[in-house]
Amino acid sequence: MTKVSVAKEDAVPTGELVVLKSVNKHFGALHVLQDIDLSIARGEVVVVIGPSGSGKSTLCRTINRLETIDSGAIAIDGKPLPQEGRELARLRADVGMVFQSFNLFAHKTVLENVMLGQVKVRKADKKQAEEKARALLDRVGVATQADKYPAQLSGGQQQRVAIARALAMDPKVMLFDEPTSALDPEMINEVLEVMQQLARDGMTMIVVTHEMGFARSAANRVVFMADGRIVEEAVPDQFFSNPRSDRAKDFLSKILHH
Ligand SMILES: Nc1ncnc2c1ncn2[C@@H]1O[C@H](COP(=O)(O)OP(=O)(O)OP(=O)(O)O)[C@@H](O)[C@H]1O
Ligand SMILES: [Mg+2]
Repeated sequence: MTKVSVAKEDAVPTGELVVLKSVNKHFGALHVLQDIDLSIARGEVVVVIGPSGSGKSTLCRTINRLETIDSGAIAIDGKPLPQEGRELARLRADVGMVFQSFNLFAHKTVLENVMLGQVKVRKADKKQAEEKARALLDRVGVATQADKYPAQLSGGQQQRVAIARALAMDPKVMLFDEPTSALDPEMINEVLEVMQQLARDGMTMIVVTHEMGFARSAANRVVFMADGRIVEEAVPDQFFSNPRSDRAKDFLSKILHH
């Protein structure tokens, strides 16, 4: 016990919640992340955009250690990413992740999906986990679906359940990797609205998305990646109206005018 409190006092207080320093990663000969330096402040919403294959998903996956890195360092809330074991499970709970494919447990009800991590990882008791799950399902607008199975829900509803499931772990930061790309157009907004609300509530968020409306209205900062590098970062207004790099200009002209 004493040890834990000493460690806490020793931790450097910082406004930066997620810090990547000179991060490099290869897939064989492909240098997929090249000297990535990125700091995300508590409560900040960062939208990551860039062409297909630029390394956006890989970047997200290194932050909750679904991918290892070759060199450099990543820290969450002042602590380096743990290598394995219980510490790693806790890290994964601290870093909520929402993917393009909803990844819900098909054989569990919506309610069970949102309860499971709380009970298994956070060691919450079942009654409290259920109360919290119901409150979160209500918050994302799917309270009436609690007893259904994922396949009985629309894509937009499933994705909102996936967000509720991640939030149930009280994450310090939420990563979203193209959360609306697999959705029919009419369901995109209901998911983006939940994310907008989360941003307004002060959640620290890293969001890979092609939804430029969301980037403009919710992001504090846009990070533009190409070929494994961060080529440019700026506040949304500046980035969209006056991109500095040719890569960003080219990318924006393709996605905004077609
Ligand atoms: N597990 C892997 N093994 C080998 N190569 C990989 C692996 N995962 C990704 N890559 C390659 O790394 C590069 C970056 O992939 P990544 O998925 O991070 O890009 P992305 O920016 O998310 O692209 P998209 O916009 O298409 O989702 C791509 O060239 C991809 O083919
Ligand atoms: Mg991707």
